[in-house]
Amino acid sequence: MATKSASVKTTSPPDFPFARPSGAEPAIEYAKLREEQPISRVKLWDGSEPYLVVNHKDITQVLTDSRLSKQRQRAGFPEMTPGGKEAAKNKPTFVDMDPPDHERQRSMVESYFSKTSVDAMRPKIQKTVDTLLDQIAAKGSGAPLDLVEKFSLPVPSFIIYGILGVPLHDLDFLTQQAAIRSNGSATATEASQANSVLLDYLASLVDKRVQHPEEDLIGTLVKEQVKPGHITKDDAVQIAFLLLVAGNATMVNMINLGVVTLLQHPKQLQDLKSDPSLARKFVEELCRFHQGSAMATRRVATCDVTYGGKVIKAGEGIIAACQSGNRDSAVFPKPDEFNLHRTFDPKDSLGFGYGAHRCIAEELAKTELEIVFATLFQKLPNLTLAIPLDEVEYSPPTKDIGIAQLPVIF
Ligand code: HEM
Repeated sequence: MATKSASVKTTSPPDFPFARPSGAEPAIEYAKLREEQPISRVKLWDGSEPYLVVNHKDITQVLTDSRLSKQRQRAGFPEMTPGGKEAAKNKPTFVDMDPPDHERQRSMVESYFSKTSVDAMRPKIQKTVDTLLDQIAAKGSGAPLDLVEKFSLPVPSFIIYGILGVPLHDLDFLTQQAAIRSNGSATATEASQANSVLLDYLASLVDKRVQHPEEDLIGTLVKEQVKPGHITKDDAVQIAFLLLVAGNATMVNMINLGVVTLLQHPKQLQDLKSDPSLARKFVEELCRFHQGSAMATRRVATCDVTYGGKVIKAGEGIIAACQSGNRDSAVFPKPDEFNLHRTFDPKDSLGFGYGAHRCIAEELAKTELEIVFATLFQKLPNLTLAIPLDEVEYSPPTKDIGIAQLPVIF
C-alpha cells in the first residue's frame, strides 16, 4: 500500500482526506499538523479548500460554535464526495439542521436513546448477542466463518430494527439490504436500489402505524408528530431512515476493529477474558483509538470567525478532525498506545462528535459494544483470525476505517 508523504505545504493545500499509512492507523499528516499548523487549509475532490482543525481544544470550540452551521445546502459546506453533494440537495433531517429546528426534530426521538431507555434494553441486547454466538458455536469449530456476516452485522441491525418497530420476520431481509447499501463492493446501482427498498419499506411501516398504532419509535413518531401535523409522513420516513443508516456501518466496523485490536494486544485480551467487567473501559478506549465515523463533523461559517489568528470567512467550510483530536497528547497522554486500563472522561473523547450534534445513539452504541465484548470471548474463548493479522483487509485508505470481512476460527 502506498504511504503518503507527511510533508505539509503552506502554499498549495494538501489533498484531503489524507490516506491512512497502513491498517487502521490514522494518517500521519495529523500528528505533524497538530504540532505545526493546527488550523490549515486542505483541498477536496471538487477543488474547494475548507479549513481543517486538528487539535482537541479547537475541535471542541468549532463543534460548539453557533456561528458555524450544519446546513448542507449553504454554499461552501464541505462535501466529501460527488454523492454527498447530490444528497445535500434533499430535504434535511435533524443531522443537517441548525437550532432551533435541530433540537425540535432531535427531541422527537431522543428519549429512545437515553441512558434509561438503553439500560432497559440491556436484556434484549444480551439475548441477541447470546443467540448469535450460540448459533456460531453450534456450527462447530472446524471451517472458518465470516464474523461480519454471522455476528458484527446482525447485532446492531437487529437492535435498531427492534427500536424502530420492524417485525422480526423482516429482519434478515432488511439487514441484507442495509449491507448492500453500505458495503463498498456493491455497484452504485445496487446500492441505490437497496436505498429505495429500505425507504419503501419504512414508508409502508409508517402507513401501517397510521392504521394500527404501536409503542415503537415509528408508532410514537406517527402518534405524536405526524397525526397532530408537526411533521409529514415523509419526514417520519426520513427520520427513521436516518436512524437506520446513520450508525449501522459504523457499529459493524467498531465490532470488527475491537476484535482485531484485542487480537493485536494479547495481554489486554487476557485481562478482558479474566474480567469481562472491563468491557466498558475497553469500549471507551476503542472509541477513542479508532474513529469509525471520521468525516461527519463538518461545518460552514455563517459569518467571519477567527480561529488561531486565522480569519475564516462567511461561506468557508471547516472540517473538525475528531480522529486527530482523539490522538492529541494534551488530553490523552501517550495517545498512540492502545490501553484499555487508561482512565479519562468519556465526554472528552471525540469519536461520537461533540456539542449539540454529538451522536444521539452514543449510549446505545457503547452499551451494545460493551455487551458484545463482555460476551464474545467468554462464549468463544479460542476465537482467533483464520488469516494472519496483517492480511486483514481494511477499507480504502482515504475512506472511513472499516473491515468488510473477518474470517475467524474458534
Ligand atoms: C460506534 C458507533 C457510532 C459512532 C462512532 C458514531 C459517530 C457519530 C458522530 C461522530 C456523530 C456526529 C456528527 C456531527 O457532529 O456532525 C454522530 C451523530 C449521529 N449519530 Fe452516530 N455513531 C455511532 C452509532 C450510531 C447509531 C447506532 C445510530 C442510530 C441509532 C447513530 C445515529 C446518529 C445520528 C442520528 C446522529 C446525528 C445527531 C445530530 O445531528 O443531532 N449513531 N454519530
